[in-house]
Amino acid sequence: MYAERVLSGMRPTGSLHLGHYHGVLKNWVELQHEYPCLFFVADWHALTTHYEDPQGIEKASWDMVIDWLAAGVDPSQATLFIQSQVPEHAELHLLLSMMTPLGWLERVPTYKDQQEKLDSKDLSTYGFLGYPLLMSSDILIYRADKVPVGEDQIPHVEFTRELARRFNHMYGREAGFEEKAIAAVKQLGSKKGRLYNQLRTRFQQEGAQDAIGYAHALLDEVPDLSLADRERLYGYLEGTGKMILVEPGALLTKASRMPGLDGQKMSKSYGNTITLREDEASVSQKIKRMPTDPARVRLTDPGDPDKCPVWQLHLVYSDEVCKDWAQKGCRNASFGCLECKQPVIDGILKEQAPMRERAQLYLDDPTLVRNIIADGNEKARKLAQETMRDVREAMGLNYS
Ligand code: TRP
Ligand code: SF4
Repeated sequence: MYAERVLSGMRPTGSLHLGHYHGVLKNWVELQHEYPCLFFVADWHALTTHYEDPQGIEKASWDMVIDWLAAGVDPSQATLFIQSQVPEHAELHLLLSMMTPLGWLERVPTYKDQQEKLDSKDLSTYGFLGYPLLMSSDILIYRADKVPVGEDQIPHVEFTRELARRFNHMYGREAGFEEKAIAAVKQLGSKKGRLYNQLRTRFQQEGAQDAIGYAHALLDEVPDLSLADRERLYGYLEGTGKMILVEPGALLTKASRMPGLDGQKMSKSYGNTITLREDEASVSQKIKRMPTDPARVRLTDPGDPDKCPVWQLHLVYSDEVCKDWAQKGCRNASFGCLECKQPVIDGILKEQAPMRERAQLYLDDPTLVRNIIADGNEKARKLAQETMRDVREAMGLNYS
């Protein structure tokens, strides 16, 4: 059974906060039970914007891995690695760059947006323009089927799909493809082979989209099919030639708009964050200092939770009974804001307790983290090397 592969990466840019936890990491922790997952530190991507001061990247990378582990990402289930430790990403990036139209890169919406947003930096570099292409290489080199990302990254996944299609179209026509594909159909056995051919006809002659899904499911059930034959059969199905690179799909992470201390979305650039492993006293203090409904000047002034950022946090951390209590107490002025904030403080501390505990293990013994990453690097590299072998062969570069 060929299980769909999930891949995602994160740039190492300082301590992760509860927004990352609710928006990304909780999702990763769920996915690792459902799919083979690869999660990596996109340290080269950090360089696209921090090329002038790369010194911080190493520490940020290790800290970030500890944050992942603290959040419950489990190295016995998912493969964790560092992008720059798998140099094959760079080779694929280079080879893909040869066939990537400049206009495709210039049209990616994040390109101009980010350049304008980060206008204190000179981002008119080759590397920054190539950001989406490097990301495509990260994805394609693992033949990832699913890429969990936030909304802002969707255009990058779309770009990756187009690039994979272009690549397969350009280089996927190996000599004798037709004959090899037909031989591979025979490998399926007569019953499955007949079904495959029927589905192929339904797609190619009637445009039946669902036939593709059925055929993929059929192929996934054949255990002893070689990877090369499987890819041929994927390609033969749709008439595109051998599928060397897999078109990934985005797995849109539900926008969890984790509110920050000021009611805006929690984000480092707004300075309204609580970090994943922030110490307890600091968490308490930050919540106690949060602004509330300005109408509540005195204890006896009733308030409106809809005008209060603390209420936004109740929505994340409190159960129905507690939310009801907060609503009533606020509107009747039966308690002060400090009292209303206490369950939120408790909720955050409770969420963080297991994270702090897990992190401590790794802080006490940093070699554990190094070993997890060394192990992940090695696993990732094997997969990347397999793809590069096929890519070089398809491009006629497998000579030595
Ligand atoms: N660009 C992504 C971000 O900023 C990080 C990233 C790099 C990534 N390569 C990737 C995400 C490959 C998913 C897959 O969030
Ligand atoms: Fe906000 Fe609670 Fe104060 Fe109302 S009582 S203003 S919800 S902190």
